[in-house]
Amino acid sequence: MVKINENYQKLQGSYLFSTIAKKVGAYAEANPDRKIIRLGIGDVTRPLTPTIIKTLHNAVDEMADEKTFRGYAPDLGYDFLRKAVCDNDYRARGCAIEEDEIFISDGAKPDSGNIQEIFGNDNRIAVCDPVYPVYVDSNVMAGRAGDYVESTGRYSDILYLPCSAGNNFAPELPESECGLIYLCFPNNPTGMAITKDELQKWVDYANEHGSVIIFDAAYEAYISEENVPHSIYECDGAKTCAIELHSFSKNAGFTGLRLGYAVVPKELVRGGVSLNSLWARRHATKYNGAPYIVQRAGEAVYSPEGKKEIRGLVDFYMENASYILSGLKKAGYTVFGGVNSPYIWLATPDNMSSWDFFDHLLEDANVVGTPGVGFGSCGEGYFRLTAFGSHENTKEAVDRICRL
Ligand SMILES: Cc1ncc(COP(=O)(O)O)c(C=O)c1O
Repeated sequence: MVKINENYQKLQGSYLFSTIAKKVGAYAEANPDRKIIRLGIGDVTRPLTPTIIKTLHNAVDEMADEKTFRGYAPDLGYDFLRKAVCDNDYRARGCAIEEDEIFISDGAKPDSGNIQEIFGNDNRIAVCDPVYPVYVDSNVMAGRAGDYVESTGRYSDILYLPCSAGNNFAPELPESECGLIYLCFPNNPTGMAITKDELQKWVDYANEHGSVIIFDAAYEAYISEENVPHSIYECDGAKTCAIELHSFSKNAGFTGLRLGYAVVPKELVRGGVSLNSLWARRHATKYNGAPYIVQRAGEAVYSPEGKKEIRGLVDFYMENASYILSGLKKAGYTVFGGVNSPYIWLATPDNMSSWDFFDHLLEDANVVGTPGVGFGSCGEGYFRLTAFGSHENTKEAVDRICRL
């Protein structure tokens, strides 16, 4: 009789989004005349830009012609895209990253879930609390998380790094040993960023302790402040301790197209083994490359017109973010994020729990957000709103919240 991977039994149900859907569904059914506005989603809503669409069409036409048809893509990505990434995201910023350190993929979620495979199972992992759940769940599946403890809402073997208003949502360095450290800045869900000096402390820590940082830069395009790093490789010594993950989802709207990349520097060596070669081996064995047409669209993101259009998309969402931020501040809420990211993280008023505030907002303003506690126990008392809606809905939602 085959045995299942028992670690999967330790995963907690997707309680957060299923509970939200149930609550919203029940409310909508009981109140069919109410217009419910959803500011809980992390998916983009604007269509792909003209340059991307034109490039996709051209690439599709190439696939129709025997002379230009492409079959399997190179495992690690087409050279044209790896070069565009290197030139624009790294060399232009003074980071010495080479093409063969870039691994094209189908997104930052798969990469952030899969990267743990090249590390031993006896590594302790550290995550921020609150956290993007993929980092935790992928390690639960691998058997690295220990047991789920109902009373704390945490896994016994994971080191949680609390993020709160007290530390400006920037975690303190770990006090106990950990092998793999997941950091995401600008952060989902808090919307907060850290400065280059703060990130440098993590790089120094990792180099000193032999840890590896998985740096998720999915929201890099939203950075607006000068002292916030766009890449961990802006920090001295990061090439010997950090892997960086990028996505084309939130900047260029590729959530449905699927494209991302990981950077694994050749200088990153642990136990005498190059992690670049391990990831190359893993990629070559288990992944057959992102589609040609999507990689061509990715290349177009870096063209002059592409850059201008993508800036327009980000600006569109950031206009929503600043409307939410200033509206809620005026209404007396304590708010975080929304400056270097499309997420606004607010402290619930009157010490309400995250879920009580969710019910209050749904019933009294007909607005849906995400309870902070769903991202970890330190998220209790917080609530996430996103800037990915239309201008019209965002304004109406904020105005309704302000009238409460
Ligand atoms: C922190 C973080 N990383 C990665 C992703 C997913 O990126 P992708 O669409 O490239 O898989 C998300 C999406 O919400 C995210 O919030």
